[in-house]
Amino acid sequence: MGNPVEHSKSPWIHARFAALTGQPVDYGRRLVPLDGFPAAVRAFLAEGGKGCNITVPFKFQAASLVDHRSARAALAGACNVLRFDGSIIQGDNTDGIGLVRDLERNAGVKLAGRDLLLVGAGGAAAGVLGPLLEARPRRVVVANRTAAKAHALVASHATLAAANDVVLAASPLDGSAGSFDIVVNATASSLAGDAVPVPASVLKPGALALDMMYGPAAAGFLQWAADHGATGRDGLGMLVEQAAEAFLVWRGVRPPSGQVLAELRAELE
Ligand code: ATR
Repeated sequence: MGNPVEHSKSPWIHARFAALTGQPVDYGRRLVPLDGFPAAVRAFLAEGGKGCNITVPFKFQAASLVDHRSARAALAGACNVLRFDGSIIQGDNTDGIGLVRDLERNAGVKLAGRDLLLVGAGGAAAGVLGPLLEARPRRVVVANRTAAKAHALVASHATLAAANDVVLAASPLDGSAGSFDIVVNATASSLAGDAVPVPASVLKPGALALDMMYGPAAAGFLQWAADHGATGRDGLGMLVEQAAEAFLVWRGVRPPSGQVLAELRAELE
């Protein structure tokens, strides 16, 4: 459920997961009117739906609509996964674990002990910060155009950061926080066609630079990474890994996400 949904790759991804695991899953797109989210969820429940993904712009509304939130959904303040347990709506968030799995398994970059820059402090950034901290990097800096939002995100995650021995701080976008092993762009800048909002000095030599966008929207960011000696990565792996984690929530079975990511890349080429 989202608005818009017509370009979503999720039905394709879940159809492949279902085929490869032998699970009986019927997953489609549902375009929800901007003022009709609670009614759409109730209607789907009444039709016998078992659960769904929630995408832009309803992830925050979803977090306040559900009956129960997982710890990771509560920390993010947003849900991308609903599971219907009878008439009880369980809310979860698999975006952060999806990003961590993509970085660690698919890109082969271990987060433990590394320095990470998270660019952006909106919903996309809030959705991933908790799981990033739990992977125990050495330092995480949240850089954002609007300083107050970066500070608020850091404040709401301070306890988790301390528990995982991570130095967590907020910074402006000007590069004053130094350089990093991993840079994650969670802003809407690529979507708007704007320039990458941080200077290339944030990249340590050989850094990994990931944009949560994929397809044409990620092209400018990937070029920027290549131009400055970094390894660029788009958000397709995160998309497939968050879907795999959602499939696990619904079906109790972990699908072969690496295989499906390779298939999806081939499909999109
Ligand atoms: P989302 O749920 O996709 O994260 P959002 O909550 O509107 O959407 O947040 C968008 C993020 O992209 C914010 O961090 C925003 O910065 P502000 O908090 O200052 O608004 C950031 N953003 C959007 N366009 C940007 C640009 N051109 N340059 C820098 N940051 C940008």
